[in-house]
Order: sequence, then C-alpha cells, then structure tokens
Amino acid sequence: MSLDKPYLDVPGTIIFDAEQSRKGYWLNQFCMSLMQADNRARFKADERAYLDRWALTEAQKQAVLARDLNQCLSLGGNIYFLAKIGATDGKSFQQMAGSMTGLSEEQYRDMMISGGRPANGLRVPGENGATRTQPAPPAQPTGARPAKARISAAVFSSHVPAIGAAIDQGKTQQDYWKPLFAGYDLSRQWLREHRPDVILLVYNDHATAFSLEMIPTFAIGTAAQFQPADEGWGPRPVPPVIGHPELAAHIAQSVIQQDFDLTIVNKMDVDHGLTVPLSLMCGQPLAWPCPVIPFAVNVVQYPVPSGRRCYQLGQAIRRAIESYDADLNVQIWGTGGMSHQLQGPRAGLINKEFDNAFLDQLITDPEAAASIPHIDYVREAGSEGIELVMWLIARGAMSDVARGATPDVARGATPDAAADRATGKPPKVVHRFYHVPASNTAVGHLILENP
Ligand code: DHB
Ligand code: FE
Repeated sequence: MSLDKPYLDVPGTIIFDAEQSRKGYWLNQFCMSLMQADNRARFKADERAYLDRWALTEAQKQAVLARDLNQCLSLGGNIYFLAKIGATDGKSFQQMAGSMTGLSEEQYRDMMISGGRPANGLRVPGENGATRTQPAPPAQPTGARPAKARISAAVFSSHVPAIGAAIDQGKTQQDYWKPLFAGYDLSRQWLREHRPDVILLVYNDHATAFSLEMIPTFAIGTAAQFQPADEGWGPRPVPPVIGHPELAAHIAQSVIQQDFDLTIVNKMDVDHGLTVPLSLMCGQPLAWPCPVIPFAVNVVQYPVPSGRRCYQLGQAIRRAIESYDADLNVQIWGTGGMSHQLQGPRAGLINKEFDNAFLDQLITDPEAAASIPHIDYVREAGSEGIELVMWLIARGAMSDVARGATPDVARGATPDAAADRATGKPPKVVHRFYHVPASNTAVGHLILENP
C-alpha cells in the first residue's frame, strides 16, 4: 500500500502496527482480561475452557497454551499485552523476554549482566547471518501504475439531535421541519447518483464515546463496525455503521507519517454528530449506502485544534487517500456547525452574516477561512459554533488546495517531485443551503465536487 515500513526487515523483531493489531485483536483483548484477579483464577482453573470463550484462532490458542511467545507475536500479539500471560504465570519481564531467545534463563540473565545483546550484526537481514522475521512486503508491480483511491466530493452539514429525532419519529413534514428537510431533497438525489465507495466522515463526539478520561484531539475509527450510541434517549433506530478497516489503517499510518498524530480507535459507538448527517443525506435506509470511516475531532474541551491545523490535516488526508492502492471513490464529509450556542445566558445565538460569509469563504478562499482564530468562532458563531473547524478538514482535502506529494513519492523523492500538486481548479458548487433554526442551531449545508 505504498507505505513506508522500513521496520519490516529488522531481524528478530516484529513491529506492532495496524496489520498486526488487526490479526491479534482478540488475542490481545484476551490478554487484557487477565488484569482482573477473577479472570486469572478462571484461566488457571481451565486454560482451554477460558480461551474458548474468546474469538481467538486455534493457532493463537495453541500458542498461548504452549506459552510460545514468538508464535503469539507472529499471530498479532503485542508484548505488553502478552506480558499479562507471563504475569499470570508469575514471570518477570526478563524471564518472558529471555524465553523468546533460545537461551536459558541463566544464560539470558548473564548476557544482560555482560552488557546485553549488541546491535552489531542484527540490524538488517544478512548481517552476520541474521534473518528477517516478518514476510517481505509485496513487490510493487512495475509498468502500469496501480489504481489509486481518489476524493470525488466534499459534503458539509450541520448535525442536531432534534433533526435525528424528527426523522426517527416521522415528523419531517411538520411545519417546523419541512423547510429544513426540503433543503436536503436535492442532496439525497445527488448522493444516489454519486454514491461513493467510502465516506470519511469528520464529526465530533459529544461526551459519548469519549468521557473526560481520554480526550483525543483527532481520532480515526479503524473498526469493522460502529454501533449508534445511546446518548440517553436510547440508541437511534438507524443501521450500524460499517467501517473500512484497511483504508482507515492506511490513512492512520500515512497521516501519522506526515506528522499529524491521530488516535486509533478500534471500538467506539457513534453519536448524533455522525448519524444525523448520514440520515439527512440518505433518509432511512435499511443499511447505509457504503462503508463509513468515522473521524472524530475534539471540540468539547479546550484546547481544540485550530482551523489552520484542521485545514492542513485535510491536505494530509487527501495525500493519504490518494496513495491507497485501490480504485476507490471516496467522499469526505465535514459536519457540525453552523452558529449555535447551547449554554448559558447567551444560548440561542445565531449569526447569519458570519455563517454566510464563512460559506462564501469556504468555497472561494478556504485559506482565509482556515485563518479564523478560535475566539472569532466563539464571539461570532457561539461557543458551539467552534464545530465549524471540522469543515476545514474536508475542505483541505479537496484537489484545488492540494499541497505536497503523496507519501510514497515524498520518500526519497527530489524536491521537484514533491512539488505542489494543486489543480488550482475551484470545486463545483452542487448545492448550498442555509436555514434557521433547527433546535438551537443555524443549519448550513454545502456539496462541493472536485473538477
Ligand atoms: C444542538 C446542536 C448540536 O450541534 C448538538 O451537538 C446538540 C444540540 C441543538 O441545536 O439543539
Ligand atoms: Fe454538535
């Protein structure tokens, strides 16, 4: 997948990356369960029976029963997770590490006392007869360039829980709601005609998946499925969200290699921030039209990322998607906004002038929109208007503002090859809609197509 994985050939070494993590997900989750004393007791009482309660492969179960840590590693285990098995057996980290080397406990301890294993001869395969541990990456086909994924369009939309409730409770034709939903008629038709293979949906979690225990600034969902969350009203009666673990893991690796630190999330429920835009664009299908990769941005607790950072992240996401070796039509959606304040005596704030100027700028001068400081969103668009920074991620991923080379080109490339690849051609405005109010919010909606 054109990613830089120079670690694949370090002798006697397995680096735990998304691929290994996917392979070893349940093996590692089983290991984590041993952090509870009652689970350790159950495991010790009947190891096989305890293992059978987990979705491990037979090979993984056999490796655990045999305490073959090298085999566990090659089957996707990670040493910090596997260490819970060793700890359950009363072993130290030194005993566990030594058990993988072919040395006896004493020999290993003595080696460490004498200064440890030298790196010399163990850096690359063939150095003093060292062999690689992981399979070689597949050779890149020569000749015709492989098909690459591309971003065809960006969709921008507010999300409001009450919109979801109106859809779920059949109220869309009531006087209050009718004009809002009418503004999405064209969008639903457009989406039917421009159905993507995958949607990367940028949204914010509203104290649903992330409590105050952990607050990732940017989090990408790499799971195969995400359930609609119960935010207190009960889960929305909408289909589960099917993810795209391979593309999501590729985006994570590529974007992190471009120095944007993402949190990788293998399990999370998705709230109205994600499901309401899907409902607005798709209606009430039995299944969403394509896989969706959730991309969550912290706009709840300050510091939240700047508009500029979001815009540049969008550019990095475009490079990531365009380096994925598959013929995929990807849409990127930016959600949340527009002006709204849900709290305090200033609740109910709406600023049509700001919102419409933002829509204008987003279309024709996104650099300017990206330079709006946080305080302006708060003052002009209300405390929750800060959600608009998420629109800049989607806008930054469009081809007219593309910058830099894809990671595979950048690697070892000349400065010329890493030049600006912006098309310069502005996106086509397929649809623009603005409506006040939905609950406490000014609803804004845009569909932009790459030329
Ligand atoms: C409302 C808007 C939001 O963006 C949200 O997350 C919750 C509520 C509202 O307008 O009621
Ligand atoms: Fe919100």
